[in-house]
Amino acid sequence: MDVKDKVVIVTGASSGIGLALSKILSEKGAKVALVSRSQEKLNNISKNLKDSFVVVADMSKEDEVRLMVNKVFDHYGSIDILINNAGIGYYASIEDTKIENLRKVFDLNTIGPLVAMQSVIPIMKKQGGGMIINISSGTALMYIPNMSVYSSSKRALGGISLTANEELKNHNIKVSVVYPTITDTNFLQNSIKEQNINLSNRNSQIPEIDSAEYVANKVLESITNGELEVFAHDYMKK
Ligand SMILES: NC(=O)c1ccc[n+]([C@@H]2O[C@H](COP(=O)([O-])OP(=O)(O)OC[C@H]3O[C@@H](n4cnc5c(N)ncnc54)[C@H](OP(=O)(O)O)[C@@H]3O)[C@@H](O)[C@H]2O)c1
Repeated sequence: MDVKDKVVIVTGASSGIGLALSKILSEKGAKVALVSRSQEKLNNISKNLKDSFVVVADMSKEDEVRLMVNKVFDHYGSIDILINNAGIGYYASIEDTKIENLRKVFDLNTIGPLVAMQSVIPIMKKQGGGMIINISSGTALMYIPNMSVYSSSKRALGGISLTANEELKNHNIKVSVVYPTITDTNFLQNSIKEQNINLSNRNSQIPEIDSAEYVANKVLESITNGELEVFAHDYMKK
């Protein structure tokens, strides 16, 4: 799909991959709805992105997700692409995993994106098509100690995405998944960490660190090529 003049929702647009992606999409002529919890940051970003629109929403709260989609639709009158990018990491061994933190991670990384999908699907069906891109993680394809909950939340998101793609084929709605690996953003600082967690070996299965712009271009690739699964690097392909 060519993104020019398309209405695109980017969640987690205030930082990292979402910010880089919002800028690239806007440069290519898309109308970008910038979503996160940080009003001031989003307002500042929006000043430089033509035809962008700010919506403050906590993507882990079902009612706020639904309201966000309604606001975007009311503003632009259409929604062509949804990019579920907002997410949070969680570093904890299985033994030390706190169920309340597991719930927080799944609420944002898995349930929020699902609710956003449920909200845009009827709109896209009426429009005759659309695209949904869900940002998973390379960890969803691996078994990295202390990342079980995070990687499982992203594995679930991948399963939901590819199943939705099968369900929505006849409505011309494509649902794809992107698997970034370690990316130079605020992800690690923003992650939840249980006490005494040792992060020294966390990169041992992932050799390189990518820029947010590199990953944003991979996401753009999935939009333009219509590929269902996009991997940050070829070695990740099965
Ligand atoms: N960086 C990596 O190494 C890496 C690797 C694989 C996958 N990923 C995935 O890539 C995505 C983007 O992460 P990033 O690396 O760009 O991290 P980041 O710099 O920490 O950005 C996270 C974004 O999500 C937003 N966000 C966090 N909690 C939110 C909530 N409850 N509601 C709405 N927005 C929320 C943040 O905005 P506010 O704080 O303003 O709400 C921010 O814009 C995530 O899904 C992450 O799991 C990252």
